[in-house]
Amino acid sequence: MISQQNEKEKLKNVNIKTVAQLSGVSIATVSNVITGKKYVSPEVTQRVLQTIKKVGYTPNQIARSLKKKGTTFFGVMVPDVTNPFFAEIVRGIESVALENGYQIFLCNTDGNVSREKATLKSFIEHYVEGIINVAPRMEETALYTFIKRTPMVVVDRPISFHDSFFGLVYTDNLTASSKLARHFIQKGHTSFACLAGPLIVPNVRNRIAGFVGELQRLNIPQEKIIILHGEFKYESGFLLMEKLFTLKNHPTAIFACNDLMAWGAIEAAKKKGFQIPKDLAIAGFDNVFFSELINPSLTTINQEKFNAGVIATQMLLKINTWKKSASVIPDNFSRTTILQADLIQRKST
Ligand code: RIB
Repeated sequence: MISQQNEKEKLKNVNIKTVAQLSGVSIATVSNVITGKKYVSPEVTQRVLQTIKKVGYTPNQIARSLKKKGTTFFGVMVPDVTNPFFAEIVRGIESVALENGYQIFLCNTDGNVSREKATLKSFIEHYVEGIINVAPRMEETALYTFIKRTPMVVVDRPISFHDSFFGLVYTDNLTASSKLARHFIQKGHTSFACLAGPLIVPNVRNRIAGFVGELQRLNIPQEKIIILHGEFKYESGFLLMEKLFTLKNHPTAIFACNDLMAWGAIEAAKKKGFQIPKDLAIAGFDNVFFSELINPSLTTINQEKFNAGVIATQMLLKINTWKKSASVIPDNFSRTTILQADLIQRKST
């Protein structure tokens, strides 16, 4: 038992120097095998890798040795890397990160909460210097456990708690979606549908509340407002629109909770022979790149994307600096940035 305990103790102290000594090579050679920065012969590479495996030199330790070399990474996670909305945010993040000597680890979670938790755990195990978490869906209590372990900025989601090493950047969804309600009314519509994204996403709840709340404020009766729930995907917009067409009198003003859903809704309406906006007006939310190129071009809400990524990364750099120098975060540091979003009117309404 004692020898096993000693063995465990020894393994805990395994470092890059141990691997080098056991492999009969220099520390630099082990580092080159790990990082691939310089050529190492296949024989030596094989010998070093076998040693790493034998002594259980774990990824954490590899990350730590990388870190000692001044390797500086931010972990960035998004729910849908195929959605141009998130791609634009990542471009903004990377533009500031690279300027300040940081690389980013980009991970896609497909909006899956378990994947979000696994990604955060992996970021921490790989000693990232901070995390930018875009549109997370996990419950706030779980998120908070991670924030206690590394600086984090959450983008595109309001969060109710605050912490020293935590920042927030998100859109005022309530105000933005109320603008769409007024726009449809000004166009003379009297029946409305909201093709909503997944209710687990706070943005969706706020967009519905802003849109429906404004319609009710303008005296639209509840029976003239239909809410259907789907996913932030093209296919979901298409299928929800087809569902609306099964109604005897379907609404004529359609708010899709993001542009991808609106594109799908437009396709479904065109397939049914409807003229847009003569028969049906359809609007989206995000204003991603292709929305002005589709036919008809999409009326939508312009969320700041690249700039949201820039602001989040600048915020994380500041928080990280204060954490590393163990200095007090100034009282005037605003850790929450709420972005306004304007209505972009195009041909679909
Ligand atoms: O297109 C993806 C959607 O998910 C965006 O509207 C963003 O705000 C997030 O809620």
